[in-house]
Amino acid sequence: MAILVTGGTGYIGSHTVVLLLEKGYDVVIVDNYVNSKPEVLNRIYKITGKKPRFYEIDVCNEAKMRDLFKKEKITDIIHFAGLKSVAESVLKPQLYIDNNIGSSKVLLKLMDEFKVHNIVFSSSATVYGVPDHVPLKEDDKVGGCTNPYGQTKLDIEYLLKEYAKEHKDANIAILRYFNPIGAHESGLIGEDPQGIPNNLMPYITQVAVGKRPYLNVFGNDYKTHDGTGVRDYIHVVDLANGHLAALKKLESKPGLVIYNLGTGKGTSVLDLVKAFEKANNLTIKYEIKERRPGDVDENYADASKAFREMGWKANLDIVDACRDSWRWQKNNPKGYDKD
Ligand code: WQD
Repeated sequence: MAILVTGGTGYIGSHTVVLLLEKGYDVVIVDNYVNSKPEVLNRIYKITGKKPRFYEIDVCNEAKMRDLFKKEKITDIIHFAGLKSVAESVLKPQLYIDNNIGSSKVLLKLMDEFKVHNIVFSSSATVYGVPDHVPLKEDDKVGGCTNPYGQTKLDIEYLLKEYAKEHKDANIAILRYFNPIGAHESGLIGEDPQGIPNNLMPYITQVAVGKRPYLNVFGNDYKTHDGTGVRDYIHVVDLANGHLAALKKLESKPGLVIYNLGTGKGTSVLDLVKAFEKANNLTIKYEIKERRPGDVDENYADASKAFREMGWKANLDIVDACRDSWRWQKNNPKGYDKD
């Protein structure tokens, strides 16, 4: 009766594994460490006192994944494993197609073979492309993705919809994340980007810890209240709870369901910088630079469907996330790398 968590040593995966273990679920992790470190397993143990069974496998490796399905009695899958850098996907689109779509196709094949009926898929708000209005609802137009990463998420959503048509006993939750930030309150797990962070919050925390001289604010001429980009920043622990809620929803055999996981509030770059400074009583130096290609003015969720149908909503706010992100970075100036 195990929950298979692919990418379970990653940022959102590890926070979800901690929660599942605390709730008494039997968790099996599969990860190839392409964007995470073995140290995460030690931290999960430190927080929960439990050691989930772990397989170091590339989910694209069908033969090895089949062996795992033979060994473990998998009842549900949470599929986090995937490359997720927008910038890298523009440079290496085929790698993203092969990896993100390839791994999902392997999982669907094995789900069919081993009669695993339930899967929760980690999708993204990027599937909405350039929004012509906000807040975004699940039945809003999708497509027109501004990068190959977002397109792979949309393509996988399509694969899941086709799989659901052919498998009437399949229960599939597609979760569209907005902008995950924050860290577990212990400060033991958090976001550990490799190289220069693409995303805003890890860049801010690296400025705060002295690893970067200042933050580049990509554009201040957007059509927003202060000219900087507006996003829906959701605490990663709220996101983890959204996956727990989705697992429970699948027990009611809903077929295929889609939910936005966001706070429903828009926060600008400068809003986040000011909140971070206030929450942690420090100063973040920044310089206004040119817009980043592919960025949109604003993007935030209407998350009311997740509340209506799963009873889930975000409870933590950006102040909690700023405090938790800083505790993680302050305690781990080099992320999971040994000091
Ligand atoms: C947020 C805002 C930037 C960095 C992407 C993916 C999404 C998800 C989250 C994977 C924008 C500005 C950023 C910096 C800045 N990824 N910014 N300086 O682009 O909204 O979303 O990451 O799951 O699917 O699409 O997030 O954090 O990169 O940018 O000014 O150094 O911060 O212009 O307005 P984004 P982001």
